[in-house]
Amino acid sequence: EKNMTGKICGTGSWAPDRVWDNNDLAKMVETSDQWIRERTGVVQRHIAKEDEDTVTMAAGAALKALEDAEMKAEEIDLILVATISPTEIMPCVACGVQERLGAEKATCFDLNGACTGSLLALNTAQAYLAQGIYRNALVIGAEKLSGLTDWTDRGTCILFGDGAGAVVLRAEEGGSYAQVTHSIGKKGGALTLQSRNQIRYENDPKAKETYIQMNGKEVFSFAVSKVPEAVKELLSREQVSCEDISYYLLHQANERIIRSAARRLGEDISKFPMNMDRYGNTSSASLLILLDEMKKSGKLQRGDRMVLAGFGGGLTAVGLVRLLRVRRLSRDPEKAADYDASLKDERTAYVANKARSMAFFISIYVQLAAGLLAILVFDRPLVGQVLCGLTCLQGLLYTVFYWHYDKVY
Ligand code: COA
Repeated sequence: EKNMTGKICGTGSWAPDRVWDNNDLAKMVETSDQWIRERTGVVQRHIAKEDEDTVTMAAGAALKALEDAEMKAEEIDLILVATISPTEIMPCVACGVQERLGAEKATCFDLNGACTGSLLALNTAQAYLAQGIYRNALVIGAEKLSGLTDWTDRGTCILFGDGAGAVVLRAEEGGSYAQVTHSIGKKGGALTLQSRNQIRYENDPKAKETYIQMNGKEVFSFAVSKVPEAVKELLSREQVSCEDISYYLLHQANERIIRSAARRLGEDISKFPMNMDRYGNTSSASLLILLDEMKKSGKLQRGDRMVLAGFGGGLTAVGLVRLLRVRRLSRDPEKAADYDASLKDERTAYVANKARSMAFFISIYVQLAAGLLAILVFDRPLVGQVLCGLTCLQGLLYTVFYWHYDKVY
């Protein structure tokens, strides 16, 4: 049976022209450019104008992704839009995109996964492609959060922005794709957005809750602990070491969260590209906009391994993490064969590393056992002390080099 994986063969993004910087916000609420930069890393955000909505932004990003993939809209079988801010609930945003692109044969639906939405949508599309149900999928994350933001609440309005990102996936044989997802519904109250369909009359106090509400500290501590945990879980399950990862693309909510995750993973911050300074938190769109920027700026090389991780409302969030290989984007079978061979070499190297590590541990336990036997059974205290002493020394050296080993294995 063929193993099919959706390969990223095009990316695109779109953001409104109108930009509000921190100083613009300081005119609306009591805050300052310095406070926002220091606490969040955000400097400006894009804000949709009246004639722009989730569909127009999603379609803008999708068109660019199709162009990048050199694919026609008619070739698309599935359009999946991750969003929490559709202008209309019905028809769904994906159907609006279909109409604008003329992607007539596509199946279209939306998915609400808050800030992990784009990753959940990628997962869903991958499942369809792996089953052979569809061949080409367009996955989009699009948000017009400015309409759902309480512009009098300085605790939230400083964070969010509007925009859209898109990728085109094409099913190809081989390749690897892995995911870890966690949803923790009992923490849902930390980040909420009530639906406007509960407002029954004018001035209904419930209207206040139909804006994003957040316990910033709770979301922060959830993100800094769960994201690295989920990334580690993914890497260990896939038997991939940190050194094999070229980039970690984390949901662009807050620079401090990303710096903390990098520290906890023991990785250099240069592997964590960021763009929240220019976009703020665009929820479902954030990771796909970042991916597009990475690709367009030439930072992604063929064969690069990336982890994408998100967290957010649910608190589903968490982390849903992905390990993708970007194969640029060649239809050349020779290049594809090189790629598969390099994957095999990496596996062999990993098994060899693991075997060396096991041999090290077995040898120190054998040494310790021999030392104890020498003291307790053979009445050779000096030999026993030397062997036990050596074991302690090796243990100490191991502790000193712990971080190194941790990274390698
Ligand atoms: N400007 C100036 N001061 C502000 C402010 C603002 N925009 N917002 C809050 N403050 C003040 C508070 O009133 C408080 O003052 P006090 O000490 O006199 O009471 C002080 O700054 C600290 O507030 P606090 O809420 O403790 O700040 P924080 O360090 O937790 O930062 C967030 C607040 C929102 C930036 C931070 O909690 C955060 O980013 N959380 C994660 C949110 C997130 O990513 N959500 C989306 C997930 S998808």
